[in-house]
Amino acid sequence: MSVAKLINELRHFFKINGPTTHIDKFSSILQRWLKENQDLPFLERLQTQAQFDMSHYVRNVIYKEEELFEIVIIGWLPNQHTSFHGHPCGGCLFTVLQGHLLETRETGEKQLLDISTDVQYIEDSLGKHKVECLSREKTISFHIYSPPFLSSVSSSNS
Ligand SMILES: [Fe+2]
Repeated sequence: MSVAKLINELRHFFKINGPTTHIDKFSSILQRWLKENQDLPFLERLQTQAQFDMSHYVRNVIYKEEELFEIVIIGWLPNQHTSFHGHPCGGCLFTVLQGHLLETRETGEKQLLDISTDVQYIEDSLGKHKVECLSREKTISFHIYSPPFLSSVSSSNS
């Protein structure tokens, strides 16, 4: 399944269900898509859409459907990190495509994330979290926000 097929499936899903509802089904769409696309050429094509900056991690919005969802690829260099932040716009489903991230939740729970890790989900009812790049090399993560993250807060939070 290509990115276009994932977008079509998500668009169909959110138009029927509205944003950030039925998280289990929303997760299963992304999980199935990732399972079907484990080949290296596919991952490499996706990874080329990541952007990097020496001063800060970079969010690259690759698709946005107003009021429903957006797909973002984040490029991280070693030691780049977010502060603890919430997700006031809605939920965020995310996974790692390359490298390693450490996610820390307000509860103190920590999880090391890499390409073998299952999809993660965060929304404000689960508390705030922070994310940091632990790799010595570039790390790339893939995020679906529903509804889209507001651009006014996207430069400092993810
Ligand atoms: Fe986040």
